[in-house]
Amino acid sequence: MMTRLRFWPDSASSVSGEVNFFFILMVVLCTSVAIAIAAFLIYCAVRYRRKHDDEMGRPVRYVYSVEIAWTVIPFFLFMGMFAWGAKLYFDIERPPDNAITMYATAKQWMWKVQHPEGQREINELHLPVGQPVKLMLISQDVIHSFYVPAFRTKQDVLPGRYTTTWFEATTPGKYHLFCAEYCGAKHSGMIGWIYAMTPRDYQKWLTEGAAEGSLASQGEKYFHQFGCSNCHHFEGQGRAPNLRDLYGRRVEIAGGGSVVADESYIRESILDPNAKVAYGFQPNVMPNFTGQLDEQQVLALVSYIKALGPQPGTQEPSSPGTAPKEYGHEKGIAGPGASSISGSHVGER
Ligand code: CUA
Repeated sequence: MMTRLRFWPDSASSVSGEVNFFFILMVVLCTSVAIAIAAFLIYCAVRYRRKHDDEMGRPVRYVYSVEIAWTVIPFFLFMGMFAWGAKLYFDIERPPDNAITMYATAKQWMWKVQHPEGQREINELHLPVGQPVKLMLISQDVIHSFYVPAFRTKQDVLPGRYTTTWFEATTPGKYHLFCAEYCGAKHSGMIGWIYAMTPRDYQKWLTEGAAEGSLASQGEKYFHQFGCSNCHHFEGQGRAPNLRDLYGRRVEIAGGGSVVADESYIRESILDPNAKVAYGFQPNVMPNFTGQLDEQQVLALVSYIKALGPQPGTQEPSSPGTAPKEYGHEKGIAGPGASSISGSHVGER
């Protein structure tokens, strides 16, 4: 199986080069400092050893310039490393604005991926090179961890909470996907492949896939199937808030305070509607959907509500229905407590 012994994983993302360089620098710097100290220690132990039984130590002489130098130089050296590491960390944590969003749910013991265009994959993820991809992750059971060594990226996947990671593949190829958090008997089998493709191949792959409509249009189906559309109208306010242009907006909460309507808030409001009731609406109107929907259905619904705006450029669900004809961009939405429109890509962490 092992055709060659490898000391270094593939390097195939926009950050992997810098991570490699940083890692090598840290190893070299720390090793040289450790070796220098050990060598100096041994040298002093030999050079200044006690030579006769009656030999007395000389009084200590302080050389302040030396003491200051060996304090200040390493201080700046290692603070520089910290600053660089922090910058790299933020680069790795913050998805760029032009990232496309994909969704992955983890469960014992597999990865399920959904593309915004509707394609679903299990233990595989196809993506285009040269395009930042933001991945929203959630677990259906225990804690897993999404780990792609070639991209130098690893993100814990938690039950009940969205986490995100992002990467931009730079080299087409097939790369390992691992679960990096012990999650039960078949943890070691929770592996998959990332297929980084040229944009042309990726477009071809997308059209070949048997998509059941976009993720948002799947969400639209659920929106009717589970009766959400009975109360959430798109014309004016019903018993429930109008969800058009909700995504990314700041929502005032009954009982004070406000919250940005990001993926996590929308998910919470579906599964536990009474947790944060929008100002001006009654609690206990909407049924609790915990246990009624799996995370992929929730993701589809979240994706649908995102597609309602106000974020431009999102895909449009295709099927007709009582849903609005056009998505997003409609002014004057909203209900009591919707006065402050933040408008920007809040929620994009
Ligand atoms: Cu999932 Cu280990």
